[in-house]
Amino acid sequence: MKTNNIKSGNVPDYRFFSEEKIKESLNTKLIGKNLVLYETATSTNTLAKENSHLSEGTVFVANEQTAGRGRLGRVWNSGKDGVWFSVLLKPDMHPDKIQNLTLVMAVAVKRVIEKSSIKWPNDIVLNSKKVCGILTEACFDGDKLKSIVVGVGVNVNTEEFPEDLKNVATSLYLETGEKQSKSVLLAKLLGEIEVCYNLFAEKGFNAFLDEYKKSCATLNQTVKICKNDEEYTAQAIDLTENGELIVKHGENTETISFGEVSVRGLFGYV
Ligand code: BTN
Repeated sequence: MKTNNIKSGNVPDYRFFSEEKIKESLNTKLIGKNLVLYETATSTNTLAKENSHLSEGTVFVANEQTAGRGRLGRVWNSGKDGVWFSVLLKPDMHPDKIQNLTLVMAVAVKRVIEKSSIKWPNDIVLNSKKVCGILTEACFDGDKLKSIVVGVGVNVNTEEFPEDLKNVATSLYLETGEKQSKSVLLAKLLGEIEVCYNLFAEKGFNAFLDEYKKSCATLNQTVKICKNDEEYTAQAIDLTENGELIVKHGENTETISFGEVSVRGLFGYV
């Protein structure tokens, strides 16, 4: 484990990671065995991509990010109260399956965060507000998939969000009234990510489809689809075997795949 200026010792770790506590709580064979901790990082996804020569399962964790990135080119607010990390994966799989892996990672996080659900494709929500986002990025060598970086950001002990995020974002603390150890939560997340990654490698997305559907807060909702300059409402009715969203608008049924599409609830975030 490489540590870049991270506090250690037996002190509450609501605002920083404790290397000892992570090690103590981690129960994995691959994911996080090699852990790179940063007090401050630009973006753990960027760092993971820059260091993609490191071994599969290497995890990059930052106490805070100065240039955290979200999906669709958005900024990801990453102060000291959250768990921000990226997992370097090197699956032997066709690039077509990358989006499936992203959905599987959402299932893994959902399993750890009690009472949460998934807003398609991979936001984790609590009480209709976003508590966690996942950004998956692939590195190619020509046509060949070299590695995948799965970046996960969980709002953990955040007490307050800026005005523009208040209605759409929440934290575990705001929902439960309890602060929690970032290190223990990280170890739990890595454990479940490993379980799901192994099952995905063995059985594919099919092994997760039912669970994903049951966990998906978007299904059976009226949603607003924003695609390029177009915006329209539709009814989210189902998922394909591949995890694409099937929506009905008017007489038309349409399959929405991940890409550059944003799906929002009609009256709120979900
Ligand atoms: C989203 O919902 O838009 C995805 C947010 C992903 C944020 C995480 S935090 C750790 C990793 N590093 C980043 O810069 N982004 C991801």
